[in-house]
Amino acid sequence: ATNRTFTMIKPDAVQENHIGGILSMIEEAGFRIVEMKKVLLTPERAGQFYEVHKERPFYQDLVKYMSSGPIVAAILEKDNAVADFRTLIGATNPAQAAEGTIRKKYAKSIEANAVHGSDSNENAQLEGEFYFA
Ligand code: CMP
Repeated sequence: ATNRTFTMIKPDAVQENHIGGILSMIEEAGFRIVEMKKVLLTPERAGQFYEVHKERPFYQDLVKYMSSGPIVAAILEKDNAVADFRTLIGATNPAQAAEGTIRKKYAKSIEANAVHGSDSNENAQLEGEFYFA
């Protein structure tokens, strides 16, 4: 069925002028961009977005990184969007990301991994509302 997922192009990828390259890969894979905007998160907002990870050892660094420069937030639509987008972006750790994935091409590290993709329909809905309420 056609459904939606949510993505962010993260600060490192925006800083290095990869917005266009990443959006091209997304559109070429058949996703429609339903909503999109460039946003600078405060540390507080970044902390809220990643609240589920607040007990993880990487949380403080992640919040600092995600508020270090603007991100591009977008809602994407496609058949089987959540799963297909996770395939398109590749593994969280770019060292394990498959050939042809966005992270293989653009991610620098497990933290600065170029893009976010929702892991479920429920989270896609919640994460989209966080930016496009
Ligand atoms: P993302 O898919 O947006 O979800 C959580 C983010 O935390 C992840 O991408 C990375 O940017 C960051 N992160 C940093 N270190 C780790 C780690 N060890 N495991 C998972 N995510 C990490």
